Amino acid sequence: MVVTGVDSIDVLKPRRVGNSLEDDFIVGMSSKQKFLPPKYFYDELGSQLFDQICDVPEYYPTRAEDGLLKEISHSLITDLKPDAIFELGSGTARKTRRIFDACESANCFPDYHPIDVCPEILVTSKEELSSRYSWLSVYPKVGDYMKGFAGFKNSTNQNLFLFLGGTIGNLTESESLLLLKEVRGLMKPNDSLLLGADLVKSPDLLHAAYNDSDGVTAKFNLNLLAVLNRRLKGDFQFQNFVHYAIYNPVKFQIEMYLVCVENQEVYLKKINKRIHFQIGDSILTEVSRKFTKARLESLFAKAGLGVVTHFESGVPEFALVHAKLHKK
Ligand code: AVJ
Repeated sequence: MVVTGVDSIDVLKPRRVGNSLEDDFIVGMSSKQKFLPPKYFYDELGSQLFDQICDVPEYYPTRAEDGLLKEISHSLITDLKPDAIFELGSGTARKTRRIFDACESANCFPDYHPIDVCPEILVTSKEELSSRYSWLSVYPKVGDYMKGFAGFKNSTNQNLFLFLGGTIGNLTESESLLLLKEVRGLMKPNDSLLLGADLVKSPDLLHAAYNDSDGVTAKFNLNLLAVLNRRLKGDFQFQNFVHYAIYNPVKFQIEMYLVCVENQEVYLKKINKRIHFQIGDSILTEVSRKFTKARLESLFAKAGLGVVTHFESGVPEFALVHAKLHKK
């Protein structure tokens, strides 16, 4: 699919200079345990594959969060009456529709500011949302929210910040603190943050969710090699790598790897690098942390945010946390 309009999307102004893919690749590949940041999954195909993951029967987080959003959106919106909604990592913004539905029935018509690393998904979701919600003004920004937000105007009275899907789990403890502090810096006393986080649960459910039987998660993971081949002019052979995801109960996290099953020398023309992969070598491509209510509360407190309400689904457990600035 060719998406037009990608070039007209505003770019999120970073506050910090971040690493390029080239830097991240070199750092990650020289580490004892090779690793790559998960944000590189989300090229156009990667974003579509993630959307497909959300529909596989084993991947419960999307449905659990959607169920919670359906339950709480109405009273949340009636209560907050936001003038603007900012969403970090909006993707297709499928679940955000619960919020827009609630806005509609509460006669509240906020602007919508989605931020994502994938420009194509921003264009498509803007089109889809605009045709479904004729009142909605959408102002997409493409960029990596981990680099901070410069030149962000927060002039409206009441803002709602969304960070859904459990993506906070992709960040390390210190990265999540950095991001929450950044968001807190943009918040005014009446503003709110609604954050989705996946919770610790039976390892069997976790394992199944990241090893779906249709192999969509495997395709999503392997697509990272296609991203590297394209962007770094590499020659990774996909059949030499397999998807492997496990739950590490000591660290309360899913770890997703690409494991090499055939010796291969990979050449990346763009950076003129050769990397030897031997059978058994692996690249850690994603960490997805799972939380408890107590650990979420302490994380928010450290960031200067106070939890107003912690909403939780039944099994499989997922949380939506509504937070405001900590009252001094
Ligand atoms: C988008 C980061 C929330 O960690 O569950 C899904 C990504 N990776 N299946 C997650 C993902 C494999 C997802 N997040």
